[in-house]
Amino acid sequence: MSEIEMLIQKAVKARKNSYSPYSNYPVGAALLGSDGNTYTGTNVENGVNGLSICAERVALFKAISEGKRDFKRLAVVCEDEYCKPCGACRQALMEHAPDLEIIMANPEGKYKTVDLKSLLPHAFNLD
Ligand code: THU
Repeated sequence: MSEIEMLIQKAVKARKNSYSPYSNYPVGAALLGSDGNTYTGTNVENGVNGLSICAERVALFKAISEGKRDFKRLAVVCEDEYCKPCGACRQALMEHAPDLEIIMANPEGKYKTVDLKSLLPHAFNLD
């Protein structure tokens, strides 16, 4: 199994933990650090509007909070043919990993790869 296929499998597994009773739209993410460690995330919704968080940001914030700063690629899985990160997650990822490769996948393992920079051209930054 390739590194990309393994990362997709981890995102598929994380997706099973989704707490998404409002949207019924489970998402899984797996973020691979340059040190080889993987951080997974799933979407966690809340009955209070605005408190829900996407799978990608859960994975990113887990990694950041453990001191990781260098990332190689992120796999994201949902029911779409190719699962696309939302705009907010693109911006959050751009802050820490502008050169990230995004693996947009589905639960059957079909995927497409794309650079974060091409998903978020002209990203905001404070520089
Ligand atoms: N969601 C994610 O987890 N990642 C995305 O990139 C897009 C949307 C979640 C948020 C919400 O729980 C559900 O999918 C439906 O929008």
